[in-house]
Amino acid sequence: MSHVGARPVPVDVRHDGNIDPDRIAAAVTRRTRAIVPVHLFGHLADMEAILDVASRFGLPVVEDAAQAHGAERLGRRAGSFGTLSAFSFYPTKNLGALGDGGAVCTSDAMLAAAVRSLRNYGSATKNRHDVLGHNSRLDDLQAAFLSVKLPGLDAANDSRRNLAGRYHDVFSALPGFACPGPGDNSMVWHQFVLRSDARDSLQARLALEGVGTAIHYPVAPFDQPCYAASYDSAQFPIASELASTVISLPMADYLTELEICHVLQAGIRAASQGWLGLIRKYPNRVACDRPVCGFPLLEEFVIPFG
Ligand SMILES: Cc1ncc(COP(=O)(O)O)c(C=O)c1O
Repeated sequence: MSHVGARPVPVDVRHDGNIDPDRIAAAVTRRTRAIVPVHLFGHLADMEAILDVASRFGLPVVEDAAQAHGAERLGRRAGSFGTLSAFSFYPTKNLGALGDGGAVCTSDAMLAAAVRSLRNYGSATKNRHDVLGHNSRLDDLQAAFLSVKLPGLDAANDSRRNLAGRYHDVFSALPGFACPGPGDNSMVWHQFVLRSDARDSLQARLALEGVGTAIHYPVAPFDQPCYAASYDSAQFPIASELASTVISLPMADYLTELEICHVLQAGIRAASQGWLGLIRKYPNRVACDRPVCGFPLLEEFVIPFG
């Protein structure tokens, strides 16, 4: 946005990190050109409400679907709601290449032609440059990797949903966390993000147990140095709160049972009070038959936490 000379106008989010549609109308002025919702963490933004506001003001919607490949609501997938949508194929994304890549989607033929030209030095015809463009073509090798991986996207998202369900069962029963989920097909769990007032000590504690976590994101865009003095962070209290409380657990379609159990047990230990009730409630969900968490019975389960 900034690179084309537009001014991003942030709108505060809901606690799931997605834009709050109820706040969009107040941010619209006669200079507004588009609404750009991000489907953060792989969760579809409230597109019905956003499209409603957009049609009220006659504005196009440009979806940032970089984290939401395959997320679906009422038969429509992320990237198919807006006039334009953008996907990232950065390696860690739900559909990731082995290097950088991305795609723009649209059903509008004129916009498609414009984007094709922009990615190729602003050239639709060889040696003729109608507009200033970029070198932003998808590399052939990356396209080939993506073609191989694309048919597995839904299965990979199912694995992520399954893992999110297991995290939800455990962490929603523990004290000290606000836990997302359990979720439906509108969520493809690019990240599984807990909230905790003791986020930093929780992260340190999990690190001691060998569980890597990440903070998405410690500094909100309106607080970044490149936008210094452009925004008043007091206008975005929820986004600011999220920046200091979120913590992302390991999330991928390839985590092993052993690794998943290890994360669950480390989380239970971190939240030490509360574990007994949890084990009573979910003896079979927390336990599994592998060595790292092979404590299927309550009595046996007590041992590592005593
Ligand atoms: C929500 C979101 N938007 C945009 C991007 C940028 O994607 P890329 O790095 O492929 O340009 C990312 C990548 O991390 C992202 O997560």
